[in-house]
Amino acid sequence: MNKRFLLAANWKMHGTQSQAQDLVQHILAALLSPQFKKVKKDQIEIQAGLQLPHIVLFPPFVYLQCVAELIQNTPIKLGAQNLSQYDNGAYTGEISASMLKDIGCDYVLVGHSERRTLFGETNEIVALKFHQAIKFQLIPILCVGETQQERDKGQTQSIISQQIQAILKKSGIRSLKKAVIAYEPIWAIGTGEAATPKQAQAVLQWIRAFIAQQDAQIAQNLTILYGGSIKPYNAKALFQMPDIDGGLVGGASLDAEKFIKIYQAQ
Ligand code: PGA
Repeated sequence: MNKRFLLAANWKMHGTQSQAQDLVQHILAALLSPQFKKVKKDQIEIQAGLQLPHIVLFPPFVYLQCVAELIQNTPIKLGAQNLSQYDNGAYTGEISASMLKDIGCDYVLVGHSERRTLFGETNEIVALKFHQAIKFQLIPILCVGETQQERDKGQTQSIISQQIQAILKKSGIRSLKKAVIAYEPIWAIGTGEAATPKQAQAVLQWIRAFIAQQDAQIAQNLTILYGGSIKPYNAKALFQMPDIDGGLVGGASLDAEKFIKIYQAQ
């Protein structure tokens, strides 16, 4: 088992409450069954002062409470798909970091490409959200990645460096001690066309080196995930890459059997 393996399930805006319950129950039944002896109730990894579980679920906001109850006292942790950049106040429809903390979240996705492209989240807004997560002791999973067009133009590194620089400018390099980065090429999300292990490794290695320019220790300890069309058939090859510490799974995380197969591929 990769010692800092982390698998995140981004359910996006899918399902009903009873489907959410079913999914959690199936995952728990599989994880806690005898053939999963390695997964113990208290299984978490400790790195650089951060305690990381192996699985984090990101249900829609309205199902957070129900999932929180089901995963209590299990090795699975809870995360939200988004958060407000504000503390509290007259922000109709928004959910604050303190509310997420209050309801039992440990994690939050920040800057998912769907938030960036469909809901106008700029690098600056993403940086404010990341800052809120850190301020309220939520572990942000910062999503970065380029479009197909940007990749074709050779802009992958410059796009990602801008995305990371915005975070560093607002929160500083030390904030990455308490964060996770997910490289999610936009062309691979929901398309069935994952990056090849080589392509993903090249970008993750570059991200680690980019951060190492500021702090080698933080870069070395940083958990970096790959996301974008991870499926049972391609998970193993991706997870074998030296810089890939796990995955952020969308579509395949809605199917307990597929998700467990991906988990087993570590
Ligand atoms: P996908 O989504 O696995 O369906 O490509 C990944 C994500 O958007 O996080």
